[in-house]
Amino acid sequence: MTAKLIDGVAIGKELRGEIKQGVDVLEASGCKPGLAVILVGENPASQTYVKNKEKSSVEAGMKSELIRLPATVSEQELLANVNKLNNDDSIHGILVQLPLPDHIDEDLVIQAIDPSKDVDGFHPQNVGKMMIGQETFLPCTPHGIMEMLKRSGIEIAGKHAVIIGRSNIVGKPMGQLLLQKDATVTYCHSRTKDLPSFTKQADILIVAIGRAKFVTDEHIKDGAVVIDVGMNRDENGKLCGDVDFEKAKKVASAITPVPGGVGPMTITMLLKNTLQSAEMACRKEKSN
Ligand code: GUN
Repeated sequence: MTAKLIDGVAIGKELRGEIKQGVDVLEASGCKPGLAVILVGENPASQTYVKNKEKSSVEAGMKSELIRLPATVSEQELLANVNKLNNDDSIHGILVQLPLPDHIDEDLVIQAIDPSKDVDGFHPQNVGKMMIGQETFLPCTPHGIMEMLKRSGIEIAGKHAVIIGRSNIVGKPMGQLLLQKDATVTYCHSRTKDLPSFTKQADILIVAIGRAKFVTDEHIKDGAVVIDVGMNRDENGKLCGDVDFEKAKKVASAITPVPGGVGPMTITMLLKNTLQSAEMACRKEKSN
């Protein structure tokens, strides 16, 4: 078997076209969606992510604001910047790029973001809403994966979804979103014993561990759908995922590549959340 490719670039492009239409409609009514990104320090991966976020938001017709702060910025000053954006009516989405330097309390910063502008879906209030299935901003990577599965016609109800990784950004919310669509969900992580015994049961396998080419055909059931959230460099410095693509594609029925799989979807969902936020804010403004 050779797996069908789940093309995040194509799906992301289609979705960004829809988002652009939404932005145009909103702008015509006098309300331009605005996204602000705060980048602290010079982390090269973060710089690349932030550049891509800025470029995509401008392409979608949004206002884009990038605030660069030095790695030595105080927690207080960072919080003051967040607060300023909370009170700026032209900004509908605020994203503080993680990780932050060690001297800054990440939780405190996330909690300082106005939940109605928290387009990352990281604020505890929004995490709580997601847990109980209330409408809110969904974290971009798992949200993007759900959209990719939907647009690829992959059924979720009744399927066994196995997730490797339990981060707050990907693994944990991923399980919740799949559960809400009636999957049976198993979480695996670094302390899981006999990992293949779990992953071999997966109809849908989500891999988010941050180890280059860690998952091989030995972990995958025949015909499984494999979603690779990894973004690593291989021994030749080439971009690769957490899944050994060449080995996995022989047994999987569908698989996401790296690059060109989950990555483009994450940014797309950030734009979707920002549009959603602007639509709510502008509706509210009009009814006042
Ligand atoms: N760092 C890695 N992924 C993300 C993300 O989705 N949002 C933010 N804010 N920081 C990140």
